[in-house]
Amino acid sequence: MNQTAVGSISPFTDSSLDTRQFAIHIENLGKRFGRVTAVRNASFSVRPGDVFGLLGPNGAGKTTIIRMVVGLMKADHGSVQVFGFDPIKQRREVLVRSSTILESPALYPRLSGYDNLVAMGYASGLHDRKKVEEVLTIVGMLERAKDRFETYSLGMKQRLCIAASLLTDPQLVILDEPTNGLDAAGMRDVRELIRDLGQQGHTVMLSSHLMNEVQQVCNRVAILQKGVVIAEGTVADLLSAQGVIRIRLQKEELENAQRVLTENGWSEKVSVVGDLLEVSAQAEQGRDLNRLLAGQGIYASEIVAEKRSLEEIYLELTGDTATLESKVQA
Ligand SMILES: Nc1ncnc2c1ncn2[C@@H]1O[C@H](COP(=O)(O)OP(=O)(O)OP(=O)(O)O)[C@@H](O)[C@H]1O
Ligand SMILES: [Mg+2]
Repeated sequence: MNQTAVGSISPFTDSSLDTRQFAIHIENLGKRFGRVTAVRNASFSVRPGDVFGLLGPNGAGKTTIIRMVVGLMKADHGSVQVFGFDPIKQRREVLVRSSTILESPALYPRLSGYDNLVAMGYASGLHDRKKVEEVLTIVGMLERAKDRFETYSLGMKQRLCIAASLLTDPQLVILDEPTNGLDAAGMRDVRELIRDLGQQGHTVMLSSHLMNEVQQVCNRVAILQKGVVIAEGTVADLLSAQGVIRIRLQKEELENAQRVLTENGWSEKVSVVGDLLEVSAQAEQGRDLNRLLAGQGIYASEIVAEKRSLEEIYLELTGDTATLESKVQA
């Protein structure tokens, strides 16, 4: 299994790195709760303009990382910077540039959506009803704005919270599992909204345990497993780097073909599955493999390049192979 960071940028060795160029820069971050290591030496960067997915199963450490990014919790070691500022020592600098919605945000249930936003605006020194209407329009909640918050569906509540997070025109919006608990339509609306935010130039970091969500919404991703970042990069790179090429050969040629590829630098990427040779490679490398084998007099009857879904990659990377196998068989 390939667990190296995929397509990751490599700023961590560059001592002249200017971390202000990143919306979020996390380096070697660690956090323990008693015997539980929630986050282990995590490093990744969110660039301005990214819609960045922090992808991991329950308990992977997503919320813990977000809490450290927004200064609600101190790291045991490592560093977090938001636009170059320390979220604890330079809290104000971070707060004026970012807005965060943690799991299950609470607003006043008896106040209307509109009045909730006005109240939140006051709390941030904002007395601008136009702004309240503007953010309600962005999230598509203007029509229901005068209804009490408690009467909203979960999806509407989530959209209202996103509206609240936009009141201060933050450069960076951080959303912890923004589609949790929503039905299919609610999820679709919130995902569209997040994509729109990205297109409008906001930088967004969202956490999710749903790989297809990250694939739909994000341009970059860090995959977390038990507090460890096991892959980081663009979603496109992650998908293309993890392709599989299946080569159909005559049974008696399989071993020979595997040896040829192994001797030519593909040693860790080739395996025999039934009467197929499976090679971890990008789709366009099929020609190279074909040429290599034909050069040794081995002719494939079929070569199929398959791009895998992020879901398969995620399940494999996080070691959830039981689920993966049942999915493949289904
Ligand atoms: N305040 C705390 N005290 C003790 N343990 C904690 C605390 N916060 C988190 N943990 C533990 O740290 C690990 C990571 O938790 P975290 O909430 O960051 O995961 P997560 O990826 O957000 O999960 P989920 O998808 O369920 O929200 C878990 O094992 C959790 O039990
Ligand atoms: Mg969480």
